[in-house]
Amino acid sequence: MTRSESCDVMVIGSGAAGLSLALTLAARNHRVVVLSKNEASESATLYAQGGVSAVMDHADSIESHIEDTLIAGAGLCRRDAVEFIVRHGRERIEWLIAQGVPFTTRTSKSGAVEVHLTREGGHSHRRVVHAADATGRAIETTLLERVRGNPNITLLERHMAIDLVSSGKLGTVPDRCVGAYVFDVEHQQVKTIAARCCVLATGGAGKVYLYTSNPDVATGDGIGMAWRAGCAIANMEFVQFHPTCLYHPQAKTFLLTEALRGEGGVLRLENGERFMPKFDARAELAPRDIVARAIDHEMKRLGLDCVYLDVTHKPREFILEHFPTVYEECRKYGIDMTVDPIPVVPAAHYLCGGVVTDTQGRTSLPGLYAIGEVACTGLHGANRMASNSLLECLVMGDAAAASILTALDTHEPAIDIPPWDESQVTDADEEVVVSHNWDELRRLMWDYVGIVRTTKRLQRARRRVELLHAEISEFYGNFRVTGDLIELRNLVQVAELIIRAALKRRESRGLHYTLDYPATDDANYRRDTVLRAGDFS
Ligand code: FAD
Ligand code: SIN
Repeated sequence: MTRSESCDVMVIGSGAAGLSLALTLAARNHRVVVLSKNEASESATLYAQGGVSAVMDHADSIESHIEDTLIAGAGLCRRDAVEFIVRHGRERIEWLIAQGVPFTTRTSKSGAVEVHLTREGGHSHRRVVHAADATGRAIETTLLERVRGNPNITLLERHMAIDLVSSGKLGTVPDRCVGAYVFDVEHQQVKTIAARCCVLATGGAGKVYLYTSNPDVATGDGIGMAWRAGCAIANMEFVQFHPTCLYHPQAKTFLLTEALRGEGGVLRLENGERFMPKFDARAELAPRDIVARAIDHEMKRLGLDCVYLDVTHKPREFILEHFPTVYEECRKYGIDMTVDPIPVVPAAHYLCGGVVTDTQGRTSLPGLYAIGEVACTGLHGANRMASNSLLECLVMGDAAAASILTALDTHEPAIDIPPWDESQVTDADEEVVVSHNWDELRRLMWDYVGIVRTTKRLQRARRRVELLHAEISEFYGNFRVTGDLIELRNLVQVAELIIRAALKRRESRGLHYTLDYPATDDANYRRDTVLRAGDFS
């Protein structure tokens, strides 16, 4: 690709959401460009363990899946989005099977081979379709193989979108998204890519916290870009902390799937005492916000470094068959999970808020779509139920593709985008500023904007983030872009949005818990926290 290109549809991101959308569009002969800022497989999708929720069992029902999702969402789910996404679950699983995804199967009493279903918190039935404990890897590698073999898809790896371009900003009306500036990481140059439709499929922003289950690519770029393009962003205060990540001084944060608790795993203190029943009747299978807060409470109360996840009740063969990835990872650190409880701590895992879309994936900027974790469709409300994220990626990938197919019939051809202007910048003189700011940001978010919040801590965080934001903006304006600087600029924006939204919600609900307002206040706060660029500078 040269420094200036055009296509029908540019998809920014190559996880489950971006790849499924690209495949559907390419099947209809549209020219699709898929960008990935790292190697294409590197995504949260690749690391997903538990699975994809969908109603597959005759004893289960769509109504039950809808109800469970609404309960977990603590009053903020959008019912139309929940119904739409849940209803399309089975069809998307069948599509994945047709693409070749090797889900774990079992033979029923009647001899039929069917997908094996596991169970996770908040679900009142077994409804999680999985490929042992490496479901995301099975989905990502299968879809990527399909994408690589598709002549209508150009996959640009190590290409990082910096900013969207809208016709309004180029002085043309009506305003719509017409492409993006993209940093070619290998050649260290900025390209323009013009497109008739653009799709943000950039995933989440776990890297805004010091401890996270997320891969390094999760820096909230899509939210930063959409915010700067003027899109509405909602519910950023709802950050999900996964209760059980491996705790070990040498381990980079590694997730221990909720399916372990689904299969009867229990949480214990070091002395063996089980503590979840005293916090919630659903014990270890209560929704994640409750389990994470209970662990946080016990750790703070007793001054502990971690608690323990005990699955030693399960036969060794069962663990090796269903949880081979977790077993191997624990073994690396000398833990044999078939006989020893596993040390665990919570870590930032999933962003329920994001770019506001409808059930076709359309954002408030015409021509711009957002799908997957970057989006806020209304499915998750104030708390996402386990395994509903991959479901959302797949259903919304397909729904947005259908909407784009219709839009392309009437959309203008791609227009010329002016080249990136580097005339005012020089090479950075102090790269260390970027790494220091990056560390400071992630630590202050962990310390002040974590599982349990207070107004005072949030205000302190806001003051410090505003200073960091100003410093990073100045750096960005004066120096040539680098990958780290592009990501830091987005991370600080995401941090600011999380803090602003958290300060606006003067109640506790779902994933947002503040000691200053511990009760839920339906009369005043049973609504989304929607932020727009004009609301604050
Ligand atoms: P991702 O899969 O994160 O992909 C994002 C893509 O965008 C990447 O390709 C990245 O390189 C690219 N990108 C980002 N910024 C840019 C940019 N500026 N320019 C170009 N490209 C960019 N959910 C479930 O439902 N079930 C599970 O079992 C489950 N387990 C999980 C386990 C772990 C360890 C983690 C971290 C998450 C898990 N989740 C699970 C959540 C789920 O995996 C994610 O929400 C989902 O995979 C997000 O998919 P996505 O396509 O939106 O984004
Ligand atoms: C897990 O396997 O526990 C993660 C599931 C999810 O985040 O949905």
